[in-house]
Amino acid sequence: MSDPAGSLIVRRIGRLTTWTGPRLTNAAIVITDGVVAWIGADRDLPEGLADHPEYDAAGAAVVPGFVDCHTHAVWAGTRRDDVRARLGGGSYRPAGIVATVDATRAASAEDLHSLTATRLRMMRDNGTTTVEIKSGYGLTPRSEQALLRVARAAAADVGLGADTTYLGAHVVPDGRDRAAYVDEVIGELPAALAAGAGWCDVFCDEGAFTVSEARRILTAAVSQGLGTRIHAEQLSHTGAALLAAELGCASADHLDHVTAADAQALAAAGVVGVLVPVASLYTRSERWSHAATLRAAGVTLAIATDCNPGTAWCESMPYAVQLACFGMGLAVDEALEAATLGGATALRRRDIGHLGVGARGDLAILASDHEADLVAHLGVPTVAATVVGGAISGSVGQAPHQGR
Ligand code: NIG
Ligand code: FE
Repeated sequence: MSDPAGSLIVRRIGRLTTWTGPRLTNAAIVITDGVVAWIGADRDLPEGLADHPEYDAAGAAVVPGFVDCHTHAVWAGTRRDDVRARLGGGSYRPAGIVATVDATRAASAEDLHSLTATRLRMMRDNGTTTVEIKSGYGLTPRSEQALLRVARAAAADVGLGADTTYLGAHVVPDGRDRAAYVDEVIGELPAALAAGAGWCDVFCDEGAFTVSEARRILTAAVSQGLGTRIHAEQLSHTGAALLAAELGCASADHLDHVTAADAQALAAAGVVGVLVPVASLYTRSERWSHAATLRAAGVTLAIATDCNPGTAWCESMPYAVQLACFGMGLAVDEALEAATLGGATALRRRDIGHLGVGARGDLAILASDHEADLVAHLGVPTVAATVVGGAISGSVGQAPHQGR
């Protein structure tokens, strides 16, 4: 991973959320060579750091950078007509994915790179410091590998940490025999690994892949050394969540139709439940209560954008967090933790999602003196600057707080 490794001191932090201890006030944080080296009261800042650039947070709140653990950020074309049809009473159909596959296959690698980098830059400007990016709009071996490579290169360009996921099993491409296509996806696992994928995902749902097809693909992925995750119980109840528990997937994502028994199985197996409230909104599922079902069973929760053209054209983790709170009923700290530490757990990473000494120096400097304003203040940018591995970007130099 070509993550940046910078050094920086952020001073005069009004409220610092670390998840490794109580919230600090009037705090400072020192990042050395990309890693958190010291955290404490601003007045106790150690001497001898003259080589570290300083950023004055001027009382702003700081939180760990968001870990957006579920995106489909590499695509070309638009599905705005699907959105308009849905607003006229139509419903979401996985078949719409094929339109994006056509547009993506037709795009040059350069265009895909620039479209993806633009999206990732928007994510970073909204406080995301690590992103998971799936393939899935190529659906031929060559095109899927190209998308995985574009994802890595674009993230490196933008300076974001990235995990990439092979989603050849997004839908069965038009004109293909399904059994032959499942065999092809399995056969392509080594090439996906070589193209940088660390994970394999399957869209297991009506109109996509069945539980038994998903079991075959994910079992093969494990034997090739890939981690596994699954789109589960999004549009209908199929048994995909129980499959995630059976296979010990790192995460089961969406879960709009999850049952209490499924949730118990996920909790017992340590599978993270990834909430994607933007997709619930965008598909007009009118389902929000699965978050409470998962919470009641003790499932570790994450929140992600699901950034994709069909069900969640959204690069903003703060917006996903707001919907998790106002739609799904999460508390502010519960949602913030799910969007940071929860995402890290979904990616099985211990070095991100929190700000303990030794963690990566990834943080979001908010446009407010209180982290609750991430949820309370709607429809405007809530992040003033983002730091990835000690490298700062955003509205540096502007007063980072508003409405105090
Ligand atoms: O996460 N559910 C499957 N994949 C995407 C939608 C992809 C699309 O419609 O283009 C999702 O919702
Ligand atoms: Fe998705």
